[in-house]
This record gives sequence, structure tokens and C-alpha cells, in this order.
Amino acid sequence: MPKLTFVGHACFLLEDEGKETLVFDPFLKGNPLTELRPEKVPADYVLVTHGHADHLGDAYEIAKHTGALIISTAEIASDAQEKRYNAHALHIGGKHAFPFGFVKATLAFHGAGIPGGHACGFVVNYYGKMIYFAGDTGLFGDMKLIGELTPLDLALLPIGDNFTMGIDDAVVAASFLQAKTVIPYHYNTWPLIEADPEEFKKKVEEKTTSECVVIAPGESYSF
Ligand code: NI
Ligand code: MN
Repeated sequence: MPKLTFVGHACFLLEDEGKETLVFDPFLKGNPLTELRPEKVPADYVLVTHGHADHLGDAYEIAKHTGALIISTAEIASDAQEKRYNAHALHIGGKHAFPFGFVKATLAFHGAGIPGGHACGFVVNYYGKMIYFAGDTGLFGDMKLIGELTPLDLALLPIGDNFTMGIDDAVVAASFLQAKTVIPYHYNTWPLIEADPEEFKKKVEEKTTSECVVIAPGESYSF
């Protein structure tokens, strides 16, 4: 059964016994929610939504220790390749098959954090389970299209406001996406993005057909 671990902030690990491990937006050093160090991350793939330090984070150091393939936008992938890391460039709307399934880059309305390009989100097919990781983004209506095109098992949504959607917009996002399960992130890392995940859970379960699972940093959810 695949297991999703919320490392903290926007960093998640997706793994299953004997299968590849994916890490999303591995911001570890300087992340007050985790003690996990880059050299301890057993990643095969590192997915990076944009170049801001709280997302690109320790991606290169993890790649250095593991030889993991970095999957990101063209600009970040080129930067990684120039520094001699393995990288695969995707761009918005494009998907590519990997041994575990596929990764598709989706829209995200947010800064790229690197000259040129865009921030993105990802739809990941991991051994048949479909996961949407929104990245850093505001609410946008085409999330409806993502929900219509992809029957989602999980939708991972930022709720901390200020830099991304806040709780109420993320509830609307959940109603567009219609995932079986919604999981919040990008909150309570710093005072500026304080948000109550239990308030989000209550609203999601009142206003949508999804269940909401709040994972504390360091904890996991099997699905
Ligand atoms: Ni950002
Ligand atoms: Mn961020």
C-alpha cells in the first residue's frame, strides 16, 4: 500500500515497499518542522514545483547523495543539469512515463523562483494511484479541469494564505478537484502562514464530497 509522509511545509515522501521513493519539494535545512537531513532521504525521484528556497530546498544535495532524478520545469532541470545532476524537464500540460507510472506538470499561479519559466504543480500516477500536488498557487478555475480529467485519490493543497491559497480558497479548490482525500500543507511553518488545519478539514467535509486527512509533520498516511 503506498504511503505518503508529510515531512513538513510542502515536503512529502511517497513510497511503497520495494518500490521507488519520490520526494516532493524537499525543503529540509532551515525548515522548522523537520529534523530530517538531506543525506538521510532515500529518494529515487525528486519533484520540484518551483525555485523558491522553501521548495527547491535541498533537492540538489539529495540528488548528490542518491543519484536521484530531479523532475521539474525546464529552467530548474537545466540548472540542475549544468550542475551535473540528473534531471528531467517537463513543462505545463506535459506528462512523461516513469517506471512507477507518470508525472504530468500542471498550472500553478505563482513565481518561478528562477529566471524565466513558471511554477508548476504535478499530477502523479504512482502504481495506479493518482495524486495531485498543487505546489504553491492561488485558486484557479482550471482546477475543475484537473478534477474532471483525472479521478484523484489524493489532492495535496496549500492552506497557509499570504503566499498561496488560504483555507477558504483551498476549500473551493477541493470542491473543483473532487479527490477522495484532501491533505493540507504549507501552513504553520512560520507565523505569516498560520492556519488551523482542523478548520480546513471541517469546511472540506461540510462543503465537498472529499474526506480531509490532516497529517502532522513526520507522520504518514497509507492509501
Ligand atoms: Ni513559492
Ligand atoms: Mn512556498
